[in-house]
Amino acid sequence: MSGDRVPAFIEARRSIRAFLGKPVPRDALDALIEAACAAPAPHHSRPWRFAVADTDAAKTALAAGMGTRWRADLAADGVAPERIDTLVDASRAKLTGAPALVLACLTWDGLDRYPDEARRRAEWGMALLSLGAAVENLMLSAADAGLASCWVAAPIFCPEAARDALALPQAWLPHALVMVGYPDPAYIGRPRPPVPLDELRRFTT
Ligand SMILES: Cc1cc2nc3c(=O)[nH]c(=O)nc-3n(C[C@H](O)[C@H](O)[C@H](O)COP(=O)(O)O)c2cc1C
Repeated sequence: MSGDRVPAFIEARRSIRAFLGKPVPRDALDALIEAACAAPAPHHSRPWRFAVADTDAAKTALAAGMGTRWRADLAADGVAPERIDTLVDASRAKLTGAPALVLACLTWDGLDRYPDEARRRAEWGMALLSLGAAVENLMLSAADAGLASCWVAAPIFCPEAARDALALPQAWLPHALVMVGYPDPAYIGRPRPPVPLDELRRFTT
C-alpha cells in the first residue's frame, strides 16, 4: 500500500476482473461517462466517444470482432493453433462475462489539424493522454459507486475491428475498453506494491 498519503478514493480503485451477474443500470453507466467527460483535454476539446455494450449481442459481437483480428495476429506470430484457441476463447469469456463493456474511442473532433505528420502524431498523442485521464475518471467514479472495473487493452491493437464490430461511426476509433459490473466479493486482487519513490521520482535543480 502507499500508506495514508494517497487519497482514499484513489486507493479504493482496483482492477477487479470478476463480477456478479447483476446488470448495471444504464443510468449508473451514464454517470460514469459523465465523470469521464470531466477529464482534462487539450484546448477545451472533447475528442472522446463512448460506446456501451451491455447486451449479450453487443458484447459477443465486440469480442468476436476483436477475437478474429487477434487470432490472425497470433497466427502470424507463429503461435500454435490450440494455444490461439485457448487465448481467444478466454478473452471472449472474460469480455462477455462482464455485465457492461465501455469502449472509449477517440475522434479528431475538436483537435487541431496540422499539415505535417510529426505534429499530427503529437496532437493525437495529446488526445490519447486525455482519453487515459477520462478512463481513470470513469474507473474512479465506478469505485466510488461500488462498481468494479477493469481496463482491457485489446482495442488499442485493433481499433477498426472494434469499431466495425459495433457498427460505430467511421470517425470513432476505440482505444480502451473498461469492463464494469458489481464486484464478485470472492475476487481477491494482488496487493498493490509500494511506490519506490526514489526510483520513480527526482526533484530537479
Ligand atoms: C492501458 C491499460 C491496459 C490494461 N489492460 C489490461 C488487460 O488487457 N487485462 C487486464 O486484466 N488488465 C489490464 N489492465 C489493468 C492493469 O493490469 C492494472 O491496472 C494493474 O495491474 C494495476 O492494478 P490495479 O489497477 O488494481 O491498481 C490495463 C491497465 C491499463 C492502464
